Amino acid sequence: MLSDYTAHAKVILIGEHAVVYGADALCIPMLNLTLHAHVAYDEQGPILETEGYCGPFEQAPEIYNGIMYLFQELVVKRQQDTHCRLTLDSRIPMARGLGSSAASALATIKAFDQYFQLGLSEDGVTVLGNHAEDIVHGKASGLDFATVRSEKLVSFNRATGFNHIDGKLGAYLVIADTGAEGSTKEAVAMVRQQRDASEQNRERLDYLGVLSDQAAQAWVQQDVLKLGDICNQAQEILASFGVSTPMIDLLVDTAREAGALGAKLSGSGLGGVVIALTQTREQAQQVAQALSGKASGVWVEEL
Ligand code: MEV
Repeated sequence: MLSDYTAHAKVILIGEHAVVYGADALCIPMLNLTLHAHVAYDEQGPILETEGYCGPFEQAPEIYNGIMYLFQELVVKRQQDTHCRLTLDSRIPMARGLGSSAASALATIKAFDQYFQLGLSEDGVTVLGNHAEDIVHGKASGLDFATVRSEKLVSFNRATGFNHIDGKLGAYLVIADTGAEGSTKEAVAMVRQQRDASEQNRERLDYLGVLSDQAAQAWVQQDVLKLGDICNQAQEILASFGVSTPMIDLLVDTAREAGALGAKLSGSGLGGVVIALTQTREQAQQVAQALSGKASGVWVEEL
């Protein structure tokens, strides 16, 4: 018996860093950037096959510790036949804030669920996925796992949890990879230090939360121009906290010069990806083309 599942990536639209201090973050599912999990019988099993590794689950590199946990929970502890092979085929670059570990956890859970006919509930999937994410990232917020399961915009708040925001914006998002891994831990510490250093810094960071609320309103009102302007304001604030880099600045400038209505870093900064908003598909293609000479990867999502 075979089983397959495809999960998608995610990208933060706005609210990164401010979310740590209670603001909302808005997160977009990237339906065009995916990871595929496949489970099949293998008499040599159990085997995990991913890019760069093929062998027993227990000997896989540390980044697959979440997958190893899922294999233990779903297969070993449930006394299923371990003569199986899990193949993960991912197009999602790791450590860019694109939710690659959450997507691999979701696809693994769903593929094992189907293959062994486990009949997991949606709540069961959530508990397993969030635990796998905690193993990989320390205590994770759950934002990534919620967004890789959603086809809608997700609004996340640490205190109140998730909301799915209905409706399309009627615009396009270009996502460009700096090629550098973002360091969430370092970036969060940098911002915290500056926030604690002065009242003015604290107010500037709080304003990122205000921008996030305005962005949610602009989304619902399909006000793409306003949202572009909000993205530019957010980038200015994030850069003032030192989490932009010369490569991020270059991609942001390139996107704006090529016609983006707004552009900013997405995620922790210090690497990761840049996002750029355009009104039309043609503009998105122009921006993507301008970025493709400079970025390690470029994707376009219809919003
Ligand atoms: C990182 O993807 C987003 C941050 O806001 C950190 C966090 O929310 O844990 C920078």
